[in-house]
Amino acid sequence: MGKIIIKTPEQIEGIRQSARLAAKTLDFAEQFVKEGMTTELIDDKVEEFIRSHGAIPATKGYNGYPKSSCISPNNIICHGIPSKETILKPGDILNIDITTILNGYYGDTSRMFTVGEVSKEAEELIDTTWHCLDLGIEQVKPGNRFGNIGFVIQRYAKARGYSVVYEFCGHGVGIEFHEEPQVDHASRRNTGPEMKPGMIFTIEPMINQGKAKAVIDKNDGWTARTIDNKLSAQFEHTVLVTQTGCEVLTDIHNEYPVS
Ligand code: MF3
Ligand code: CO
Ligand code: CO
Repeated sequence: MGKIIIKTPEQIEGIRQSARLAAKTLDFAEQFVKEGMTTELIDDKVEEFIRSHGAIPATKGYNGYPKSSCISPNNIICHGIPSKETILKPGDILNIDITTILNGYYGDTSRMFTVGEVSKEAEELIDTTWHCLDLGIEQVKPGNRFGNIGFVIQRYAKARGYSVVYEFCGHGVGIEFHEEPQVDHASRRNTGPEMKPGMIFTIEPMINQGKAKAVIDKNDGWTARTIDNKLSAQFEHTVLVTQTGCEVLTDIHNEYPVS
């Protein structure tokens, strides 16, 4: 086990700028999420936007990953590879996940988008997943333990009849793409390391309609689908532990007060 990096004020400011750019890229991507668009076209636009802001898409070439974003529709849990074969149609729900490297610093965020009218079931899954992230963020404060994030997320998701993906997790982020600690979205109360001011990590719950299990595509080695092909949703923020609470670094719409 390595160590959880406590970021310096200078590093925090650098990561904050990158995190804000990642979130701005999601805002920019929204206009291309509509019927008939391919996920490859969205990825092309995303790459252009990131580079035009002096940053680099972190996923491109990361362990051989080929694209500038992950776009994961419907039964895809995460790591969907943008493709000209994937054409958006009414009723689709999709996660777009963006990680930027700006001046060497990483920011990581994802959210759900919808195409036209979506089913009541899909909407409920998206709402629940959003609330799971919200509950996880509420746990971010000095002295609290990482296990409490996964504890509150799993309790809520389960009560609503959903399952929590356990094979992919949040992670420390900022200096590297994936740092310690691993942030589980299903875990036991008061377990894991203690949060300390200056830690930066992601919370990114993936919530499934059916079974929790993920199956990786044999051909591309990336795409993670639900084993029963039911829907999956995900939201992700990059958060900083402050002296007294937390700052959501990817929250450019000020949905979370800094505490
Ligand atoms: N952005 C993803 C995360 O939240 C990681 C994608 S890695 C990739 O951790 F290689 F699949 F792009
Ligand atoms: Co992440
Ligand atoms: Co991400």
